[in-house]
Amino acid sequence: MEKNLTLIGEKSFNIPPEKTILQASLDEGVPFRYECGAKARCSTCRILVEEGAENLSPMTLGERHLRSQINLSENVRLACQTYVKKGTVKVRRIMKDKTDYELYIRKSNGEPASMGKELQLCLFFLDMRNFTRFMELHLAFDAIHLIRKLFNSFERIINKYNGKIIETAGDGLYAAFGFKEQPIEAANNAVKSGFEIIEKLKELNQDYFNKHFGEFIQIGIGIHYGKVATGDIMLEGRKHKLVMGYPVNIAARIQELTKKYKNNFIISDKVFILLQSPPKSEQNTEIIRGTGERINIHVIGEDYKQPLTS
Ligand code: FES
Repeated sequence: MEKNLTLIGEKSFNIPPEKTILQASLDEGVPFRYECGAKARCSTCRILVEEGAENLSPMTLGERHLRSQINLSENVRLACQTYVKKGTVKVRRIMKDKTDYELYIRKSNGEPASMGKELQLCLFFLDMRNFTRFMELHLAFDAIHLIRKLFNSFERIINKYNGKIIETAGDGLYAAFGFKEQPIEAANNAVKSGFEIIEKLKELNQDYFNKHFGEFIQIGIGIHYGKVATGDIMLEGRKHKLVMGYPVNIAARIQELTKKYKNNFIISDKVFILLQSPPKSEQNTEIIRGTGERINIHVIGEDYKQPLTS
């Protein structure tokens, strides 16, 4: 039976049974990288299997050993250790040039950069209300100090519930929950952390912001749950987590709805149904701007006490 290998976007050829994907591809003139000399020690020959994983040879001891040391997704194999046993297989080369090599292999603290993967996560957006007005009325130094003080407190709470801040932008932050936990735990943690942040803010307002600046800070929180692509990126020598996908946009939109509902906490139905002790809520259907998609939301927070300007 003929065995066929397709390197997607490059070439297709019949592959002899005694040759690994790496050997056969090199014979065909495909410029694979194989830094360790095909000894299962470097992983530069990684391939992403898109079709026919069941037609590949089982993992060798060498491949198993390497996988126990670095984080490789299930659909990634080592070309230097893998044979096509039957039928058709379609794969993509990952390290095509020096930049790919840098992106995937470059190390930080001895830890290799991980491959991207899909995860179901709880996506948590938080934004400050009326912050533009605060900036206009106070020194830039005070505004930065205030953001630092708030985000520092919020980060502690988010971390306590196993969440991770992915990004901050101006007066907003974006976190994700569920990198290690099951969906129910992730959703419950995200919502608990939202309520705890709201309580912490009351304390900070009373003991600090009102006392020193004559201000009451208000926030809006929106949470959604869904499948996203995650991975790491190295920037300025530090590893940053990337979380991307359509559900991230929905979570951001839900956070924006806090202004419309004049309430500081809104979650999607996908999060609400995962809660073990659901809070009292007002349910509504909203059409997501830009997509036309209808989603059910639950307004679970407190009404804003100060008028909103942004
Ligand atoms: S060439 Fe090094 S692991 Fe395959």
